[in-house]
Amino acid sequence: MKNYTSIKDIEHIDNWIQEAKELKRKPLNNNLLGKNKTLGLLFFNSSLRTRLSTQKAALNLGMDPIVMNVTGDAWGIEFGDGTVMNGTTAEHIKEGAAVISQYCDIIAVRAFPTLTDKEKDESEEVLESFVKFASVPVVSMESATGHPLQGLTDAITISENTTKKKPKVVLSWAPHVKALPHAVANSFTQAMQKMDVEFVITNPEGYNLSSEITKDTPIYHNQEEAFKDADFIYTKNWSSYDDYGKILKTDLDWMITKEKIGDAKFMHCLPVRRNVVVEDAVLDSDSSLVIAQANNRTYAAQLVLKKILENL
Ligand code: CP
Repeated sequence: MKNYTSIKDIEHIDNWIQEAKELKRKPLNNNLLGKNKTLGLLFFNSSLRTRLSTQKAALNLGMDPIVMNVTGDAWGIEFGDGTVMNGTTAEHIKEGAAVISQYCDIIAVRAFPTLTDKEKDESEEVLESFVKFASVPVVSMESATGHPLQGLTDAITISENTTKKKPKVVLSWAPHVKALPHAVANSFTQAMQKMDVEFVITNPEGYNLSSEITKDTPIYHNQEEAFKDADFIYTKNWSSYDDYGKILKTDLDWMITKEKIGDAKFMHCLPVRRNVVVEDAVLDSDSSLVIAQANNRTYAAQLVLKKILENL
């Protein structure tokens, strides 16, 4: 594997899950694989889990991670081809990506969508520019349309916590005060479509994800109906895809409550707004897997870096 930019890069998810579980059991078994190799982590947006777990994964493999907050700390990067750079941008991605490739053996990038320009977001301008102009492998740490490290993490977490051969997994939209990207929901959907689970999505009218992502996954507009017999309820807010980037609904009737989830396990990628997305009683109960998910971020990242290092 050269790059990891999408759940589509996972050929056999069950094999990947098994490998991740082995890494988790013995995280330092490959601690010479990355010796004298540098991982560059480039953040165009905020992060807690991704920033720390990806560095931890690199350290477990013996790599040296270096981190840059691109927005604010680096020169403004120009992505347009043929642009007359007489505005706010000072460095073209052609030089930027090539220069970073001199210092790093793998480049990891986080760049969120605009949520105002659907065409630009779907072109994955930032991530794909790094893939095009870097001379080293590129890993997505969440892009405009996907969060494949999170999706892999969630697949591992479900595999670890299921008591059934084929559990029912529900992806539920929940309210939020801000317009949020579709990336986590997209990658979770793609990961579940690769797993042997009964997978359904529930969201209010107007909030269907892209049909390119959902494909033939059943979509319910009645949350209660979708939650019937659920084993895992994965919750995430996203803004409207059809009315791109807009918030169409703000009331709390889709908030996740203890009463709604019953015996199901609760999952969320974090950070989560308590008592907006989900009530305290869920997060503070044994039903919540959110900390287990955050822990698995390290092993998902470690597996991806290991596969890339083995191919260098
Ligand atoms: N879940 C996740 O990607 O968290 P951060 O945004 O804190 O990295």
